Amino acid sequence: MQIRSTQQTDARSHSFFAFSGGSLEEILAPLGAEQRQLAASNLPDMDALSKVGEITSLSLATADGSVQVVVAGLGDPADFQWERLRKVVGKAFKEWERLKSTLVAVHLTGLPEGLAATDAARTVAETTLLAAYRFDKYLSEKKPVVVDALDIVAVEDVSGATADGVVLAETTIFARDLVNEPANVLSPAKLAEAAEEAGKSYGFAVEVSGRERIAELGMKAYLEVSRASANEPKLIVMRYQGAPDRPEDIIGLVGKGLTYDSGGLSIKPNDGMLFMKCDMGGAAAVIGAMAAIAKLKPKANVTAVVAACENMIAGNAYRPGDIIQSMAGKSIFIGSTDAEGRLTLADAITYIIEHEKAAKVVDVATLTGAAIIALGHISTAVVTNDQDFYKQLETASQVTGEKVWQLPNFDEYKELIKHKTADLTNTGGRAAGTVTAGLFVGEFVQKKPWLHLDIAGTAFSDKAGEYAPAGGKGVGVRLLYQLVKLLEQ
Ligand code: BES
Ligand code: MN
Ligand code: ZN
Repeated sequence: MQIRSTQQTDARSHSFFAFSGGSLEEILAPLGAEQRQLAASNLPDMDALSKVGEITSLSLATADGSVQVVVAGLGDPADFQWERLRKVVGKAFKEWERLKSTLVAVHLTGLPEGLAATDAARTVAETTLLAAYRFDKYLSEKKPVVVDALDIVAVEDVSGATADGVVLAETTIFARDLVNEPANVLSPAKLAEAAEEAGKSYGFAVEVSGRERIAELGMKAYLEVSRASANEPKLIVMRYQGAPDRPEDIIGLVGKGLTYDSGGLSIKPNDGMLFMKCDMGGAAAVIGAMAAIAKLKPKANVTAVVAACENMIAGNAYRPGDIIQSMAGKSIFIGSTDAEGRLTLADAITYIIEHEKAAKVVDVATLTGAAIIALGHISTAVVTNDQDFYKQLETASQVTGEKVWQLPNFDEYKELIKHKTADLTNTGGRAAGTVTAGLFVGEFVQKKPWLHLDIAGTAFSDKAGEYAPAGGKGVGVRLLYQLVKLLEQ
């Protein structure tokens, strides 16, 4: 789809936003006199039009052909949130499709005070592309998207913001594609290739290492997880330097990159395995975020690491009951080979701190089924050791609409991951599974400010959202970009 920002449009499908207390005259201003009058006399009043999520559409037969008018309700400006606009654009998109509009104009008229046309343009561009997303590459009969061009019409110049919105959508879609790609296609090597290609087209450096180098680095826990797979593990390191004058200020992003999680010898039942291609959702988030960051160029240094591998079964597989080593030198009792993500994250975090000199760490992982039990598919669960850092994440989350919710980090929970015969155990038991998994990862952050995002519920869902089909959601890309943007100095 083509997204343009313009002051003039040839579209015959015109969409407007209605806020309560706004004026219909004002929002319809871009229409010609005849159309405007016809529309105004046939539309209900602003109270009805502005109800949140209300989509009112009208076909006008005028002297020079018919035009379509769609009014989308955004409610009270006093409690406006950007996520409301996204949901409403998602609904409007469905209406455009129903009306078979190929060229749609969205007019940014009648915006209440404090709501910048640039921010609105960015959000409309972003959401329209996200709403139009399909994963249909394996279907021999595709249902193409009808809307193929969108004009964002504003009096002022919103071209920069529109272009930013396109980048944020594109990189989120890139992450969705990676998550949706089945594991027989997306091996660790393919994931690494995708990162390399993104590095080339968006402008960040990518370094990929195989088993030999991973062993040299001493990433023993990571190697254990990958051991039984026929596919070689790939350590993917991505670097972006946007603040060369402060080279020591490096934000480290770590994404869980299990291209498939069978559970290993602690094998999952079929239903548990069915969607485990999504277990690289954290990797998709950090690779997508690096792409957005490299393109939009915040003044910050960001390094991302993905310890990509597959958790499979073979005669050489690691076993429940094993005691393994980690790069940090802590021994780990294997309570379950299905608690593999935290093992790969432990080494990836040690690596990003010791070899990449990250001063802060954010890890993103489809880590626990317990996160889905606790928060469903609505919010990402967060564990942290730094309340100020968490506040920044919350601020970023309010911009992008990707909801986060903090879980406790009390020392009492840490007792659950101690073991009699090893420094740590990788299973804290069923109770508080998301907290103990997070705190296990936290054992490796060496007191750096750290955020742990468990996206098991939010990375993937078999239900469609307001502006996402069922499947991979691309969660984390925009959130991490926005967080980095906030940390820019
Ligand atoms: N990848 C899974 C977590 C997961 C579950 C992600 C459902 C997305 C949807 C993870 O590796 C896992 O298997 N976790 C175990 C941990 C347990 C063995 C301590 C779990 O949640 O059951
Ligand atoms: Mn697992
Ligand atoms: Zn897993």
